[in-house]
Amino acid sequence: MLLTNAQLVTLRDNDSFGLIQNGALALEEDRIAWVGSMQDIPDVWRAGQTSDQVHDLGGRLITPALIDCHTHIVFGGNRAAEFEQRLNGATYEQIAQSGGGIVSTVTATRAAPQDALLVDALTRVDALIAEGVTLIEVKSGYGLDRETELKMLRVARQIAQHRPIEVRTSFLGAHAVPADFTGRPDAYIDEVCIPALRAAHAEGLVDAVDGFCEGIAFDTVQISRVFDVARALGLPVKLHAEQLSHIGGTQLAARYGALSADHVEYATDQDARAMARAGTVAVILPGAFYTIRETQAPPLQAFREHGVPMALATDCNPGSSPLSSALLAMNMGCTLFRMTPLEALLGMTAHAAKALGLATRGRIIAGWQADLCIWDAAHPAELAYRIGFNPLHSRIFKGSL
Ligand code: NIG
Ligand code: FE
Repeated sequence: MLLTNAQLVTLRDNDSFGLIQNGALALEEDRIAWVGSMQDIPDVWRAGQTSDQVHDLGGRLITPALIDCHTHIVFGGNRAAEFEQRLNGATYEQIAQSGGGIVSTVTATRAAPQDALLVDALTRVDALIAEGVTLIEVKSGYGLDRETELKMLRVARQIAQHRPIEVRTSFLGAHAVPADFTGRPDAYIDEVCIPALRAAHAEGLVDAVDGFCEGIAFDTVQISRVFDVARALGLPVKLHAEQLSHIGGTQLAARYGALSADHVEYATDQDARAMARAGTVAVILPGAFYTIRETQAPPLQAFREHGVPMALATDCNPGSSPLSSALLAMNMGCTLFRMTPLEALLGMTAHAAKALGLATRGRIIAGWQADLCIWDAAHPAELAYRIGFNPLHSRIFKGSL
């Protein structure tokens, strides 16, 4: 396939959009075969193309396809009632402590048949696909028993059999303490979380291991026991860290060479340094910040100064971030945190890929996978700028339009 007359947003490096005006792209099977200016198209590509293989893009913008690197998109039920409670003054933590929050989604997720979880998740996945997303990460964590954690991960894998999208899974058994283990978080980690992780890994259902390190969830010692098992199994780790308070999750993540530390509103300059040394990506989740009306913004300037790559994601979940729009997450990253439109786009492409441990995704580079978006837009800043509008013209997944 030859795509001509396009404006390429290559994101070749992190300092600019890497624009190529009057650009062209050649795709071979699922790869980008050639990238450059119209006048430089090699003869082998110019000749030998039948008309149905050449697409004149009429000057439209092409970017790498979007990647949502942090979602809890598989879940049962919803938590609209808690939304109302919070509007009446209850905090996210108070609701969690009174038996609502994550634990209430656990009840609904345990009760839901596997097929129903899939059908429900696909409605949200379709919203992301419609905006040009070709790769999502999906976490478990609403089972908190072996059977339901595995059920969630199987559903996550099934998404890729039903839709043209790639799925990476994260085991999040250490998400909350289930009701039957109230007051016994260590017993939950030893008796349920770690055995479930081993079982899920044995079934090939786990690409990474995540945890929720927070006052209302697990402390750094408990998380490190889960991470030790991940390390022994050869699985990379990531962590919900410093979202509501500062208890040392970011430093812990860095010590384990985590792929990412996520939320990080309460992270410090020291934390940013540790992340930079470890190569840990900061995953910024403005949907959760917005929904729970957080006021402490993540330390973006420290991330910039220390060279911590920043990703952006929806955190799509029924409680803290009922958001299934990648474009709105980009807009929020800019408006709430003053990310630049370039940072927002890198955050939903190359840096999101890095947060998933995928080094060669999310830029337009010859040899890389051909996952691309074609937009009805004249400048890449337009993607983050508009609110509630989808300028996607078409999406290319593994070389197919
Ligand atoms: O990323 N922080 C913990 N986990 C989710 C929230 C899950 C929920 O509220 O259901 C998050 O915000
Ligand atoms: Fe999350």
